[in-house]
Amino acid sequence: MKIGIGNDHVAVEYKKIISQYIEEKYGYEVIDFGTDSTERFDYPIAGEAVANAVVSGQVEKGIVLCGTGVGISLAANKVNGIRCVTCSEPYSAKLSREHNNTNMLAFGARVVGIELAKMIVDAWLEGKFEGGRHQRRIDLLAEIEEKQKKQ
Ligand code: RB5
Repeated sequence: MKIGIGNDHVAVEYKKIISQYIEEKYGYEVIDFGTDSTERFDYPIAGEAVANAVVSGQVEKGIVLCGTGVGISLAANKVNGIRCVTCSEPYSAKLSREHNNTNMLAFGARVVGIELAKMIVDAWLEGKFEGGRHQRRIDLLAEIEEKQKKQ
């Protein structure tokens, strides 16, 4: 499994800790889309880069971090095919996989402590899409994207 990860200047340390955590606990390869600088960095750049890696198949899932997790998740969700959830607790992370088949996770380095962040990552990585009635709703989400393309 390959996981893409990206962040803005606020979340450089969190990105490093979470990357190492995933590599050691799950043995997944984590591909870093930056930034590694604490100079001001615009979150849409990293959000788009990780999202493009997910839809192209370069990585299977993506994790993006900024101060709140909000801005970078908005950027990711602008990319067709991305379903990115912003989480501050593990329950939504787990259900977002089971019901919404999320392919990206976002959280805020200024919002959640690092140990809670690890629990969110665990819940999200271990959650399995249940399909069934939920697939119909995922298909409806994709239809919204198709309608937007025609506008
Ligand atoms: C940066 O100050 C901050 O706006 C950013 O990290 C993020 O929280 C945006 O949603």
